[in-house]
Amino acid sequence: MEHDENPTSYSTGNSAQEKGISYVPERYVIADAQRPKLAPKEATVPFIDIAALRNIGSEERSRVLQEMREASCRFGFFQVVNHGVSEPVLDDAISVASKFFDLPTEEKLKLLSGDVHKPVRYGTSLKADDDKVQFWRVFLKHYSNPLNDWIHMWPENPPDYREKMGRWCEEVMKLGIEVMTTLVEILGINTNNLTPKIENGMQAVAVNCYPPCPRPELALGLPPHSDYSCLTILHQSSPGLEILDEEDNTWKLVPYIPGALQVNIGDHFEVLSNGLYKSAVHRAILNNSDTRISLASLFSLGLDDKVEPAKELVDDQNPKKYSESSFRDFLNFLARSDYGGEGKNFKDYLKLKNN
Ligand code: OGA
Ligand code: NI
Repeated sequence: MEHDENPTSYSTGNSAQEKGISYVPERYVIADAQRPKLAPKEATVPFIDIAALRNIGSEERSRVLQEMREASCRFGFFQVVNHGVSEPVLDDAISVASKFFDLPTEEKLKLLSGDVHKPVRYGTSLKADDDKVQFWRVFLKHYSNPLNDWIHMWPENPPDYREKMGRWCEEVMKLGIEVMTTLVEILGINTNNLTPKIENGMQAVAVNCYPPCPRPELALGLPPHSDYSCLTILHQSSPGLEILDEEDNTWKLVPYIPGALQVNIGDHFEVLSNGLYKSAVHRAILNNSDTRISLASLFSLGLDDKVEPAKELVDDQNPKKYSESSFRDFLNFLARSDYGGEGKNFKDYLKLKNN
């Protein structure tokens, strides 16, 4: 048990990571068994060149589909190259994000909100000031698709934020649609209903900043979690993303390949595939020298579109494993749960009991 004299002492605007405190306060210290290794093993995650996806009917395309299927079933995780998002767009998004976090605290606090339903919000740690354990993270989250519905609510500063982040969001949205429709095609399920929901779906972008941490072996940037999304695409400025290898139950660092993008299956795709695809469990570790920026784009169907196991994948041998839910259901779950603490994650909450 921690006994903070003032439980709000690390609230947003006043957190250790925003202030650059030279020690790790007790509130941030992770339980022994969950502490990260300073030199973690690297994960042997698949690295897929997706250029051939656009070459309909080709042999290379079938090979890429096979690689994507294997990666999604085994790890729920892969990296992609030749993804179509250009280098200047990637670089500009990281640099404008970093300029945002360099702004004076008062400017960023204009966007402060602990209400998970807000389309744009600034915060620290995981959920809010009331996290039992604090995480060494500062974030800005905003909805992004369709861009014109949301961009006017984004930060006004830095002045080029909207333009540069907007371009990244649009390009990564196109990639997300391409990867998601391909993953649906691989499952062999009826896409007529699904494709428009994917194309008009929600894109929630988490712009994450992990300032240097004086004792990176004691704290975490983000605790172990799976994403609620159908799919997440992550772009990072330096290594720090770890995935749980379920084969030996150890954490492995995702190798850093400049220009590659990280793709992970989220809870809603695991549900849709009735458990064939794995929603990857991952976390963010810290370092004591550089600020790390990551941009995570979480793609879902529409706010109230229900996701349930595809009918084609449910039969007597394969009973339905999950109940239906929407993105809004997730937000309601998040608002009331102790996410990242001892609380269940969304995927466990959706699992049907008779499985
Ligand atoms: C996330 C996430 C990992 C990272 O934002 O959901 O898992 O490396 N981020 O920042
Ligand atoms: Ni995540």
